Amino acid sequence: MLNASIAGASGYVGGELLRLLLGHPEVEVKQVTSESYAGQPAHFLHPNLRGRTNLSLVSLQELAPCDVLFAALPHGQVAPRIEEFAALAKRVVDLSADFRLHDPADYPLWYGWEHPAPQWLPRFVYGLPEFHREALREARYASGVGCNATVINLALWPLYQAGVIGKTVVEVKVGSSEGGAKPTRASHHSERSHVVRSYAPTVHRHLAEMLQELTFNEQQPDIHISVTSVDLVRGALATAHCFLTEDLGEKDIWRLYRQAYGDEPFIRIVKFRRGFYRYPEPKILAGSNYCDVGFAREEGSDRLVVIAALDNLMKGAAGTAVQAMNVMCGFAETAGLEFPGLHPV
Ligand SMILES: NC(=O)c1ccc[n+]([C@@H]2O[C@H](COP(=O)([O-])OP(=O)(O)OC[C@H]3O[C@@H](n4cnc5c(N)ncnc54)[C@H](OP(=O)(O)O)[C@@H]3O)[C@@H](O)[C@H]2O)c1
Repeated sequence: MLNASIAGASGYVGGELLRLLLGHPEVEVKQVTSESYAGQPAHFLHPNLRGRTNLSLVSLQELAPCDVLFAALPHGQVAPRIEEFAALAKRVVDLSADFRLHDPADYPLWYGWEHPAPQWLPRFVYGLPEFHREALREARYASGVGCNATVINLALWPLYQAGVIGKTVVEVKVGSSEGGAKPTRASHHSERSHVVRSYAPTVHRHLAEMLQELTFNEQQPDIHISVTSVDLVRGALATAHCFLTEDLGEKDIWRLYRQAYGDEPFIRIVKFRRGFYRYPEPKILAGSNYCDVGFAREEGSDRLVVIAALDNLMKGAAGTAVQAMNVMCGFAETAGLEFPGLHPV
């Protein structure tokens, strides 16, 4: 049994990590931190965990050594503490963006600050097992993933890897929990409920992770994204309009996706002729670690529409982080992540 602690456990991602790790057969949760709620029981903030844990939140200063430390703090709060965190834990999984990008020059460009610990960037593996499983087996440090980046990266990876698409335009619709637990005027119920709001019509920070992860043979992908906030709590749905550079039919596309994801435990190819759940939908993925991916080939044109869905707090954050830890620690990759989601919900 390993022990794990969670920094930033009062937040939405920290709460989801706690839920997963409490049910993990190989892990015992040691400490959970919050600066604002230190001294309160964890279930005060995560009422779904009542009766499942007696842990109380402690401040970051009280963190003791542990086997694995998950950091679920806001961007910019982990990099300045990395020496301290690495001294406490043999393995660190950081869910913020602080160690997702390899090039230090990307931080001023996408996040507006100079990276305070650039020497640590090469020590981190981008924590998406589907792309970096072998590197993660040897890694002590893994980053988390951006939720919008992940739904788009998983949707497009087989196509960019095969070199069969050029320009791609992606619309991603996102739920409110992407913004975290800290309320703002824009997240207030009166403003946020029932919206279909263009949040980032032309650019989003997660594009940096797409450019990094979908570059093959030194060719950056030609991707353009728009993010729209919709009336969901959990979930992201990406609709990617891809323009093929080769004349591929449905069978060819099936083959590319099966080759890429046929053995993946958390990626399902969802494309059915009948029924009403014919393509991926975030609604049925809430709480699960699946990313569902489907596609539709437009006849008589070069357009291929790829559709992908996930739960941003799970496959887009905590679920993938636990999956990465499983790979790093040599556990079964699906350990603690078997929950299939609810239907109806
Ligand atoms: N939400 C998502 O869908 C999602 C998806 C992928 C990745 N992520 C990333 O995961 C991280 C956590 O996101 P979240 O949605 O869980 O955010 P959140 O709900 O706002 O939680 C943030 C946590 O960090 C703590 N915190 C805030 N400011 C701090 C500071 N200055 N020093 C120390 N602790 C501080 C908060 O604790 P107290 O205020 O209680 O001290 C809270 O526990 C972020 O980096 C986010 O980008 C989020």
